[in-house]
Amino acid sequence: MVDEHLFNYLNFIDSKKNSLLRFILNDTELETSVPPGTTLLDFIRYRQQLTGTKIGCREGDCGACTVLVGEIKSGSLVYSSATSCLMALGNAQGKHIVTIEGLNGIGLNAIQEAFAAEGATQCGFCTPGFIVSMAGFCLSDHEPSYDKAIDAVNGNICRCTGYKSIERAAAVINRTMGSRNGADPVQFAIDQQLIPAYFSTIPEKLALFKDASLGQTNSESVPKHMGGGTDLYVQQHETIVEETLDFLFDKSHLNGIRQVGDYCEMGGAVTVTDIANSPVFGQYFPKLSKYIKLISSTQIRNMATVAGNFTNASPIGDLTIFFLALDATLVLDNGNGKREIQLRNFYKGYKILDKQPGEIIEAIRFKLPAVGDAFNFEKVCKRTHLDIASVNSALFIKTENGNIVSAGLSAGGVGPTPAYLSRCSEWLIGKSISSELVHALVEMAQAEISPISDARGTEDYKRLLLSQLIKAHFIELYPNLPVQKILHG
Ligand SMILES: Cc1cc2nc3c(=O)[nH]c(=O)nc-3n(C[C@H](O)[C@H](O)[C@H](O)COP(=O)(O)OP(=O)(O)OC[C@H]3O[C@@H](n4cnc5c(N)ncnc54)[C@H](O)[C@@H]3O)c2cc1C
Ligand code: FES
Ligand code: FES
Repeated sequence: MVDEHLFNYLNFIDSKKNSLLRFILNDTELETSVPPGTTLLDFIRYRQQLTGTKIGCREGDCGACTVLVGEIKSGSLVYSSATSCLMALGNAQGKHIVTIEGLNGIGLNAIQEAFAAEGATQCGFCTPGFIVSMAGFCLSDHEPSYDKAIDAVNGNICRCTGYKSIERAAAVINRTMGSRNGADPVQFAIDQQLIPAYFSTIPEKLALFKDASLGQTNSESVPKHMGGGTDLYVQQHETIVEETLDFLFDKSHLNGIRQVGDYCEMGGAVTVTDIANSPVFGQYFPKLSKYIKLISSTQIRNMATVAGNFTNASPIGDLTIFFLALDATLVLDNGNGKREIQLRNFYKGYKILDKQPGEIIEAIRFKLPAVGDAFNFEKVCKRTHLDIASVNSALFIKTENGNIVSAGLSAGGVGPTPAYLSRCSEWLIGKSISSELVHALVEMAQAEISPISDARGTEDYKRLLLSQLIKAHFIELYPNLPVQKILHG
């Protein structure tokens, strides 16, 4: 049977002349003029015939297409997992891409052995994706733990084996990792036969690639801006390969998170994983890991950028709701000049933004919570993992002498845009925290939202959810408040 997608794609790319991309695929250095908007998945399967990487959903949901992406960061070789069905070939520029074939040595590696010994594979369709994700865990420079091993495969779905045997294999691999004791992750993984020996030659080879960012592919037309691609490929999978693209993901001025005085400044291409690993966020948001767990999967977090989340303008974008409550400011750049706008004023209607076609979100700035300030993020969705919210919400409160002096309440899924509830936020100022205040706020919020019934729930259900999430904020932030009174009045 002819794969129609493959047929159209090959016809199109053969009719184009494109700039040269350079990267390492497994143990081979490559140059290619295949259009950079091609998905990495199509390239490795159809151009390189590396068919160990499987196609399941093509929407980032199943993890069958997982690859590892290696790059030099702060002088060290670091790897992260990615769903190749949503990754642009252009975002592979200057990096090391590892497919399941690139993890094979002579015989089974130690990860594959653990899966085989524990009966963690049956039909085998999902297995390459699981093995690659688990290799990502082994190569991570974080202190290994069983929970982290399980987190590494939270974006991988198996339809036939049953997860208990996969969990047992993860436990075996984690035990192996337990003896790392601060050794270099790549060398340790080679020594333990978790990955092949050629990985030790990669840093030297990557150092020869000077500029990792591809930039704009054609200077004649206004480009589409490509961040991690996790929204663009889901929405425009068939057409994006033909567009003029500007690859933002690796531009150095769009990356990095830093504290400047009382403020945090970060580039638009900062990912959810960058936020999760950031010492600044770790210091000022003690419950950060709890919030991050609620957002997509490890593979998607490694790719999903903050500017992509804001610009996609989904009414339930988690990062958008998080930063709305902090009343963040955006720095927009059109190539000729910059302007600043508050995130809460960025949304003008359903998917309508205060943004010109050529403008990009260069940076995001917000005031960091001070000691004693309160911040919380909550999300309800149909599934615990890998699901978008039915309703989400964040609350920031600053108090002085028992009175609220500044507040921000945001809510998603309760109107056409991600909402900053300005009337509620302003009303809170001057009040003191009590269960009565919570009830009054819940009522006030109902007047400021306009949810509609859809696949995520009925209007009434979403109204109820927001009420519960507002109560959850106060229960979480002020443990001395009477929980029963908050819940039942
Ligand atoms: C399986 C799966 C699970 C997901 N789960 C969640 C979830 O739990 N919570 C959630 O909030 N989202 C989720 N998402 C949505 C998505 O991952 C996020 O919205 C992500 O932050 C988008 O970022 P990106 O870099 O991938 O955007 P892209 O797809 O690259 O771009 C999205 C839009 O932003 C524009 N853009 C990108 N960067 C810039 C910039 N710097 N300036 C201006 N415009 C820009 C693009 O042109 C495009 O219009 C999920 C997606 C998938 C596929
Ligand atoms: S094919 Fe399912 S995540 Fe890529
Ligand atoms: S082993 Fe069959 S889908 Fe996982």
